[in-house]
Amino acid sequence: MESLNERVLEAVSYIRTRVSCDPDIGIILGSGLGDLAYKIIDPVEISYADIPYFKSSTVAGHEGKLIFGKIYGKDVVAMKGRLHYYEGYSMEDITFPLRVLTILGVSKLIVTNAAGAINKKFKVGDMMLITDHLNMSGDSPLIGRNCDVFGTRFPSMNNVYSTRLRSIMKDTASKLKINFQEGVYAFMPGPQYETKAEVKMLSLLGADAVGMSTVPEVIVSAHSGVEVLGISCITNATGAEDVSHEEVLAAVSQTTEILTSLVIEFINRL
Ligand code: HPA
Repeated sequence: MESLNERVLEAVSYIRTRVSCDPDIGIILGSGLGDLAYKIIDPVEISYADIPYFKSSTVAGHEGKLIFGKIYGKDVVAMKGRLHYYEGYSMEDITFPLRVLTILGVSKLIVTNAAGAINKKFKVGDMMLITDHLNMSGDSPLIGRNCDVFGTRFPSMNNVYSTRLRSIMKDTASKLKINFQEGVYAFMPGPQYETKAEVKMLSLLGADAVGMSTVPEVIVSAHSGVEVLGISCITNATGAEDVSHEEVLAAVSQTTEILTSLVIEFINRL
């Protein structure tokens, strides 16, 4: 089997046969947040299934394609649909697309997700700028032989959620008169939602929101020095009532329009 680097280069070569775009900005569209992709001008879509070594998403609300094009004249690539740890894929598999994006030239990544509220002040429909994360999976996408082409063996995880990008997003939000919460995102492997005891634990540990994605992709991006902006859409309370995936998707569909305008204006200001 080829090394990670060789596999990434093969995927990159394939993508370059299909599209001539040089994206500097990557966007990961979380559960139900795919509408942003319709705002991409002159889009070229490539299915994950066509790209060497890409796995396909098995989850409702996650389609599985890369969309290249322009927003405000800037080259972007969006991942419509992401891969999750709970689908049974390895950390390396779920973060493979981010390695590919990095080699394609992405230096700024906007990550979105749906999340449950741990912070009692948060309401369904709120958006949270991620300031930091808790990796509760006990695993890391960087475990295994380090590939120096991507980054150093022991990367820093300080300021992973770039203060520069957060400040640009806060300016954008205040111009559009949109409120943002800020806080710490806890990554649980899932797929089961949290027990009441786990919700209490996460709260004691300083989490404000909880979800089943984002952190592996962010670790890999940070490994390569990519600047990250993370946004959680708060879709449900935790610990009190039962949560369902349908409820999460329904809540997200109410935020998607606002989030889309925010991200587009943010890109304009980058
Ligand atoms: N827990 C974990 N992941 C989630 C939740 C939740 O409550 N809501 C949306 N994604």
